[in-house]
Amino acid sequence: MTAPSASILGVPHAESDIAVEVRSICKYYSEVEALRMIDLDFPRGKLTTLLGPSGCGKTTLLKIIAGLVEPTSGEVRVNGKAVTGPGPERAFVFQDFALMPWATVMRNVAFGLELKGMGKAERQSIARHYISEVGLTGFEEKYPHELSGGMRQRVGLARAFAVDAEVLLLDEPFSAVDEQNRRKFQEDLLQLVEKERKTFIFVTHSIEEAVYVSDRIVLLSRRPSRVAQIIEPKIDRTASPDAIRRDQGYLDTVEEIWQGLKHYVD
Ligand SMILES: Nc1ncnc2c1ncn2[C@@H]1O[C@H](COP(=O)(O)OP(=O)(O)O)[C@@H](O)[C@H]1O
Ligand SMILES: [Mg+2]
Repeated sequence: MTAPSASILGVPHAESDIAVEVRSICKYYSEVEALRMIDLDFPRGKLTTLLGPSGCGKTTLLKIIAGLVEPTSGEVRVNGKAVTGPGPERAFVFQDFALMPWATVMRNVAFGLELKGMGKAERQSIARHYISEVGLTGFEEKYPHELSGGMRQRVGLARAFAVDAEVLLLDEPFSAVDEQNRRKFQEDLLQLVEKERKTFIFVTHSIEEAVYVSDRIVLLSRRPSRVAQIIEPKIDRTASPDAIRRDQGYLDTVEEIWQGLKHYVD
């Protein structure tokens, strides 16, 4: 391992600033070792991205944090409490949307609230707010098959926001959309991070996307996956999107990660 660059690692956070703690997580699927001793802290109110080669275990780690998959060993704590299964403080946005095809946008977005036993008027009013937040006002009564991939993804995001989870787990949420929409989503996501003050754990395999949206980027090695490097992009978020993408700090971070991936992955 090369020496980490100055922007990396070891920045201490006060205990209360950590929303999610991943401690010594190992995961085997039969004899396949997916994750090897993952230790990570996810700071509250920040967007942390997991970046790594396809098949390295990003989805697995996200599902372990969600409580959907049990680790072989190790522990995840959310607000200091050990995770033993899914919980309302965590919401998962799946790579493949996982919308209910037989239900309208409204019903899909309100579904988590319906599960909580909230009354119809209240849950629809909350759902309407988040449908508007993701730019889908007017599509409330449409069904998933009537929407584009990008729009379906927005429904998934709105549903995750509607349950008011503190921790949002996003598994390659923009992978199904074209580059233009992807950039628009990145802006939307940054706005939501700014506005909602939630803890985001985001998975992508786009280096540019990771650098553009993240407070912290965790580079995972090829399977069995380990934490190879943690990078904190230094980006002036007050600049315009075009200015950011041309900024030397942005370009240097993209290059640093590219080199890091080459080093840890090949
Ligand atoms: N349910 C499963 N059963 C067996 N192997 C699995 C299962 N889920 C994932 N894997 C394997 O674990 C590894 C990590 O998968 P995954 O977490 O999906 O990676 P990523 O999301 O980084 O592409 C892969 O080799 C994959 O084939
Ligand atoms: Mg995956």
